[in-house]
Amino acid sequence: EIKLTLNIFILVKGKHSEPLLIWNCKVDLAFLMDGSWSIGKRRFKIQKDFLAEVAQTINVGVAGPMMGVIQDDPITEISLKSYSSSRDVKAAVDKITQKGGQSNVGKALSYINKLYFSDATGNRGSAPNVVVVLVDGWPTDKVEEASRLARESGINIFFVTIEGPDENEKHNLVEANFVDKAVCRTNGFFSLPVSSWFGLRKAVQPLVKRVCDTDRLVCSKTCLNANDIAFVIDGSSSVGTGNFRTVLQFVANVTREFEISDTDTRVGAVQYTYEQRLEFAFGQYNNKAELLNAIKRINYWSGGTSTGAAITYAAEQLFSKSKPNKRKIMIVITDGRSYDDVRAPALAVHRQGVIAYSIGIAWAAQDELEYIATDPDKEHSYFVDEFDNLYKYVPKIIQNICQEFNSQPRN
Ligand SMILES: *[C@@H]1O[C@H](CO)[C@@H](O)[C@H](O)[C@H]1NC(C)=O
Repeated sequence: EIKLTLNIFILVKGKHSEPLLIWNCKVDLAFLMDGSWSIGKRRFKIQKDFLAEVAQTINVGVAGPMMGVIQDDPITEISLKSYSSSRDVKAAVDKITQKGGQSNVGKALSYINKLYFSDATGNRGSAPNVVVVLVDGWPTDKVEEASRLARESGINIFFVTIEGPDENEKHNLVEANFVDKAVCRTNGFFSLPVSSWFGLRKAVQPLVKRVCDTDRLVCSKTCLNANDIAFVIDGSSSVGTGNFRTVLQFVANVTREFEISDTDTRVGAVQYTYEQRLEFAFGQYNNKAELLNAIKRINYWSGGTSTGAAITYAAEQLFSKSKPNKRKIMIVITDGRSYDDVRAPALAVHRQGVIAYSIGIAWAAQDELEYIATDPDKEHSYFVDEFDNLYKYVPKIIQNICQEFNSQPRN
């Protein structure tokens, strides 16, 4: 086919047109400088020269990248909204003086997460948040916890480690493998080791290319990575073994679409009859393969149908352990009328900020499906006459979750 060939050609061309990456660079970019006494005046100056050159290269501007600087103590030297040209950022960088003290990167990352990327200081919802941490050697505090929280808020953490620990120095570290524990992903893209201070300049181009490659800034919050999703699965006798497999396939197919990890989307599942059972909790399986396996292993229970109690149970067992930065999504799948009231339990979870979807099959009751679903019902409540048609709602539910996410202010 002619059309197909043409597409492939364009794709290959696009991959090599590098300037494209830089001119489309709309990011909120923060640098954490190492201002500890141990680095000395000369290296501090090299750091400033590095930042000035980055500012020059990325072409700072309100339609493109905005750039700010934090010095390790932590203190904001340049907020994101302070300057809207490379020249002004460079001039401000030049005026920064060394703070001294220790290199408390964990503490600084907490500060950046809580205070630096705020709307008041210039954080733009439409631009990915990036923080580049410059460290001389290694941090003097632990970074793991603060980094995890920052990633959960959608911050893409890069590390530029200058003269990092060699084999003989590793016993001095406060925290082993601190780079891996901190960066957005451990695939090498987010870490740039520099062997000597005098080589720091050479890191400008590769770093700018990476921070501007917005498609690869996977820690930004998206509809696919920022959720805690609870499946509430009807295991009543009317479902039957074969159909129950189909329901699990549906759960797996929906799950497959999300990015799964402890800092991305987490999935939990409850099965219910008259009673309720926690199949697995949020974060119990933190990679997709294990999660899909766990879904496959859910055993069909068989019994009555108390959907109301199951919703309350999901709130207590799952959503009470949800993280503040996650969107709470509940997907209830049922094939019949509940023996108990669903209205009050549904209202209670809606009030807790849970976005509820109801998926009814065969004998499910329309009024109950609507009570369960978040308003507008039409977008959160689906009905299929038979289990074999469930698959049709996989793309629908993903599409709705993403549409809703994208229509809300970010960060
Ligand atoms: C799940 O996905 C598989 C593979 O695409 C498909 O064959 C199956 O029909 C889907 N089932 C459901 C219930 O979504």
